[in-house]
Amino acid sequence: MRNLLLSRWSKLVVFLACLSPFAYLFWRAYSGQLTANPVEFVQHFTGDWTLRFLLITLSITPLRRLLNLPDLIRFRRMLGLFAFTYVCLHFLTYIWPDQDFNLAGMWKDVAKRPFITVGFLGFVLLIPLALTSTKGWMRRLGGKRWQALHRLIYVIAICGVIHYYWLVKSDHRLPLLYAAILALLLLSRLASSLLKSRPQPVAPHETSQPSFGVREPSSRL
Ligand code: HEM
Repeated sequence: MRNLLLSRWSKLVVFLACLSPFAYLFWRAYSGQLTANPVEFVQHFTGDWTLRFLLITLSITPLRRLLNLPDLIRFRRMLGLFAFTYVCLHFLTYIWPDQDFNLAGMWKDVAKRPFITVGFLGFVLLIPLALTSTKGWMRRLGGKRWQALHRLIYVIAICGVIHYYWLVKSDHRLPLLYAAILALLLLSRLASSLLKSRPQPVAPHETSQPSFGVREPSSRL
């Protein structure tokens, strides 16, 4: 499994998998199957995939531990950037056909409709994460500050779930399912932070010297 994850092709395979929802959308558009309300269809489709990619990105860390596959980290940045790509398309379907690029109208809507406010907040918070997702920015900010900034992905996912919950009028099952998945991911994060903060018993052969093993900062995007 490790060899598979580290192979040259694995990133390409994950990239193509991430692109497949977009390819499906393109195919539906090409074959005239975007329903009677194409804007709404694309808006919902891209919103759904933004949330899914956010949750998939967040699940990488617990899965690395659970499956003992540390190399899964190779795909996290790409997954996070796909969440950003899908939210950009989602936002575009709002600002263009919905608002006709009318920024004043958009601000009014952001202020007036709470589900738009919280979605917009999630989108705005995702921008610095996407911009600083490179190794260069990781170095410039320093591991600790970079990690603190990238923890915002939890806040963004919470915004996404609330946004979805608030916009749904009757059947709340799907937003609640996403909320449950997010709650599990948050709990696993909390548990691992608590375990890390507990003083570790020092094995007799260990000294108090700091470890020089290079630990990859746990990037979120
Ligand atoms: C992290 C950011 C965001 C996430 C995760 C997200 C997610 C979603 C989801 C899951 C849906 C519902 C899809 C469905 O019903 O199948 C949706 C719908 C929608 N979103 Fe977002 N969204 C985000 C940001 C935004 C932003 C920035 C805007 C606009 C400013 C926006 C505007 C809308 C609108 C207008 C709808 C359709 C509402 C309706 O049909 O009643 N979203 N979004």
